[in-house]
Amino acid sequence: MSEDLIAKALAARAQAYAPYSQYQVGAAVRMADGRVGTGSNIENISFGASVCAERVALWTLIHAQGGRWTEMAVATEDGGTPCGECLAVMAEFVSDPEAVVWMVAEDGNRTKFTFKDLMPHAFQSRAPFTQGRINL
Ligand code: THU
Repeated sequence: MSEDLIAKALAARAQAYAPYSQYQVGAAVRMADGRVGTGSNIENISFGASVCAERVALWTLIHAQGGRWTEMAVATEDGGTPCGECLAVMAEFVSDPEAVVWMVAEDGNRTKFTFKDLMPHAFQSRAPFTQGRINL
C-alpha cells in the first residue's frame, strides 16, 4: 500500500523547480478519504518565496476538498526530513499523531517515521481564535 505513495513521491521529485539549491524534492500525500496528491519544491529568485514539496502537495489536496492526511512520502537525494514550517502545516491537517511519514532517498533507501516522531510537541495555541481544531 505504501509502495504506490513512495513511487509517486519519486516521480514528483522529477517535477521539482529547484535551480538555486539544486536539491529536488517530491512529496506524495494520502488523505483519510483515499485521495492521493503530489507536489514538488518550487523555488524563486527571491529565495524566501520558495515553497517546499510537502506544502505544495498538502495545500493542493486541502484546496480541492479539505480533509486530513494519513500517510506521506517525501523523496530527496539523501532521505532528508521535512523542515519546521512544513511540520507546522502538516500538524494542522494530520489525522492522527501516528500518521506515517516515509523518507525516501535517491538510492531507494527509506526510513519510516510517525508524525509524532518528527514533531512530538506541535504548537497548539490556546488563544480564543484557535480554540480547538477547526473541523475540516
Ligand atoms: N525542501 C523541500 O521541498 N522539502 C523539505 O523537506 C526540505 C527542503 C526544499 C526547499 C528548497 O527548495 C530546497 O529543498 C533546499 O532547501
